[in-house]
Amino acid sequence: MDDNRDTLVAGPISMSIALTASSQVGKFYVFEGIDGSGKSTVSKLFAERLAKSGRPVEWTAEPTSGWIGEQVRRANKEARSDFAETLLYVADRAEHSAQIRAWLDDGRDVVCDRYEGSTLAYQSVTLRPHLGPKALEWLRTINAPFVLHPDVTFLLRIDPETAMSRVSKRGEAEKFEKVSFLRKVAAMYDRLAVEDLSYVVIDASKDLDEVLEAALSHLPR
Ligand code: TYD
Repeated sequence: MDDNRDTLVAGPISMSIALTASSQVGKFYVFEGIDGSGKSTVSKLFAERLAKSGRPVEWTAEPTSGWIGEQVRRANKEARSDFAETLLYVADRAEHSAQIRAWLDDGRDVVCDRYEGSTLAYQSVTLRPHLGPKALEWLRTINAPFVLHPDVTFLLRIDPETAMSRVSKRGEAEKFEKVSFLRKVAAMYDRLAVEDLSYVVIDASKDLDEVLEAALSHLPR
């Protein structure tokens, strides 16, 4: 695969290089959105449809099911330090990115449920009391050495109230799943969608089938 991938970082300036670098290998699709946006379900169906079209596909997710991912889930519930929690998400992604890169190099498409955008959106909110507006820049910096730039990032956009009503139906009520918090995260996602050309915004308040078809319509031809 092209060595250019080594230099890929998030941000519009690197986009043209990113697309060129990834054109000869598998495609990297990321699904982002607030809790309750439906991205886990949609990303799995999206991967299934890619596989049916004959593409070799890997579906994967963050937090991962690996050993660091387990610690991430624990930190998500127990961490007292916002920084410890953040650095675990990033450590999980560093390990995960090496695996994703190997799949892409092998010519496989990768569909990932949450990636760097989740850290940029969620942790820029949790770290704002510590770092102020510089939080986003710091998070980009610590991800940059290893992060892969997605070919497409699907942002499943939904009103936090609607998302919350879906989540509470599932009986989950964790700290991240509070409307006021999710509203700030959603605003960050909207900003990322403007700044990062890989983002495609999809209205996730619609029926599952429509959301899936909207995502599939953005597949490169
Ligand atoms: P989620 O997608 O809900 O995973 P699962 O369904 O397996 O529990 O993610 C768990 C939470 O982690 C979710 O509230 C978002 C949060 N999160 C971050 O805050 N930063 C990150 O970088 C990632 C990957 C997730």
